[in-house]
Amino acid sequence: MSEVLVAYATKMGGTKGIAEAIAARIRAASHEVTVMDAADVKSVEPYKAVVLGSALYAARWRPEAVKFLKRNAPALARKPVWLFHSGPLGAEVEPQKAPRKVRELAARIGAEQPTTFGGRVTPENAVGFLARKMAQGPMAGDHRDWDAIDLWAYKIAEHLVSAR
Ligand SMILES: Cc1cc2nc3c(=O)[nH]c(=O)nc-3n(C[C@H](O)[C@H](O)[C@H](O)COP(=O)(O)O)c2cc1C
Repeated sequence: MSEVLVAYATKMGGTKGIAEAIAARIRAASHEVTVMDAADVKSVEPYKAVVLGSALYAARWRPEAVKFLKRNAPALARKPVWLFHSGPLGAEVEPQKAPRKVRELAARIGAEQPTTFGGRVTPENAVGFLARKMAQGPMAGDHRDWDAIDLWAYKIAEHLVSAR
């Protein structure tokens, strides 16, 4: 069983890509990492540490990510947990405040509030009418900052090494 779980909630795949990049960085520091859709995680008990990320839609987290946090809150409170969300489109990524429920759950499990990474809306990946419309507009593109993601994951890997 892996030491670290990286769980994600996505609609168009962008957040899954971020989760995979985070996992790759942590793996490079010799940790075993499982990357999984948050909806498919049966239990977090086997893991020593957990990373959870959700896509942002209308300022909300995906329901499966919120469910994951709620359902596993008691177990997550006993482990190091890192949260992120992905959404903002455009060159300047403003940190996004998490929805109230997520802020409360983060506080309850003793995790820091979610870090914000840019998102992606492209014609190739758009799912749904609004996304397809946005994919034709000025905010279209892949705004995921791989350097920022890598640095964040690197800090997690460092923390895990020092906790060994
Ligand atoms: C209908 C719609 C609503 C969105 N609402 C938000 C939002 O409230 N805040 C935000 O930062 N990004 C928002 N976005 C951008 C998405 O979060 C971004 O495209 C993200 O990368 C999607 O992640 P996914 O590919 O994992 O589903 C929205 C996108 C769409 C299509």
